[in-house]
Amino acid sequence: MQTITVGLEKQPYSIYLGAGLLQNKTLFSEQIRGHQVMIVSNETVAKWYLPQLQATLNTHHCDNVLLPDGEQYKNITELTKIFDELASKKHTRKTTLLALGGGVIADMTGFAAACYMRGVNYLQVPTSLLAQVDASIGGKTAVNHPLGKNFIGAFYQPRGVIIDINTLATLPEREYREGFAEVIKYGLIHDKAFFDWIEAHIEGLLSRDPQALTYAIARSCQIKATLVAADEHEWLDIRALLNLGHSFGHAIEAGLGYGKWLHGEAVAIGMLLAADLSARLACLPTAEVARIKTLLIKIGLPVRLPAELSVAQMLDLMAGDKKNINSQLRLILLKAIGQACVAEDVMQNQLTQLLADYLDENTIC
Ligand code: NAD
Ligand code: GLY
Repeated sequence: MQTITVGLEKQPYSIYLGAGLLQNKTLFSEQIRGHQVMIVSNETVAKWYLPQLQATLNTHHCDNVLLPDGEQYKNITELTKIFDELASKKHTRKTTLLALGGGVIADMTGFAAACYMRGVNYLQVPTSLLAQVDASIGGKTAVNHPLGKNFIGAFYQPRGVIIDINTLATLPEREYREGFAEVIKYGLIHDKAFFDWIEAHIEGLLSRDPQALTYAIARSCQIKATLVAADEHEWLDIRALLNLGHSFGHAIEAGLGYGKWLHGEAVAIGMLLAADLSARLACLPTAEVARIKTLLIKIGLPVRLPAELSVAQMLDLMAGDKKNINSQLRLILLKAIGQACVAEDVMQNQLTQLLADYLDENTIC
């Protein structure tokens, strides 16, 4: 088992990574505060892993609540079901919530833990690649609003993150591949050597080679932990770099209707757009954009905008992005592979042209 620390000043915590950790009774017992546990999961993931986890927690009083599966259910109405279950089963302030699932369950459970009785203990047990490398770490919790992705939420850190890589065996291919958008993101914003390594090992990664996969997850978690520890609440433009491609991606997810494109798919084209824009602004060599595009194509991630959306819709949704300040669009751009920056001075006409190029089937980017 590997341990990676999220070195927050007030409340540091550990990410545990290994095979078979769902069966590790000692590890779970160390992270659970009182006797009561509420496992939050969805119908898909519960079918595979709920009985295993219940067996591991058999010395605790263990309840569960299963939400419907999908980004379209990441909303206030479904969140209420967690509170209903906690209250009706008389869970106290000493309870521990346990998020068993992908990023949707991670975000909703974290937000429920932040709100129930003004804040209770919770653990992340991510089962999708995307949640293992990103959503379970760093304490961003939220639900969606029809007008904006993750608009209602809180920063609220988990007590720990337990990643059992064996759970990836049941993850469907499309959901597995989308997770690589966030893995590539870490190379792009922070670590060129890691980006080079991903390129060189992409076949092994796509065939789920455990050694390559463990390294990719561990390195991703280390980078996320470093940026979160340096800027927990995104006040210093350090954590903000983790949003590379996300202003575009969130607009796609909200514009199409939540759940049509997976989060990682929307982020993938978003990162390519950010890289291309960086090249158009003469920050990044054009050859690097081509490299990023080639890698995304190899993984099977989108490199065009969805035809159902228009430039006007994209611009409108991006104008409402959480990261903007004083109505000014703030985008994460690349200076090089491995080096990102925050840009506040992107001209509307440059953005319009970029979006139009990626919606136009005939344009070669
Ligand atoms: P998801 O939670 O919808 O999971 C994808 C699909 O895989 C779902 O159908 C799920 O049931 C299924 N699944 C998960 N694990 C499985 C397993 N082991 N076996 C079989 N099926 C499994 O989506 P996601 O891609 O994991 O996460 C995306 C969400 O994460 C978005 O809502 C995004 O906003 C959020 N996110 C949050 C952060 C953060 O820092 N809080 C970071 C990145 C993404
Ligand atoms: N996923 C972006 C962040 O955690 O800051």
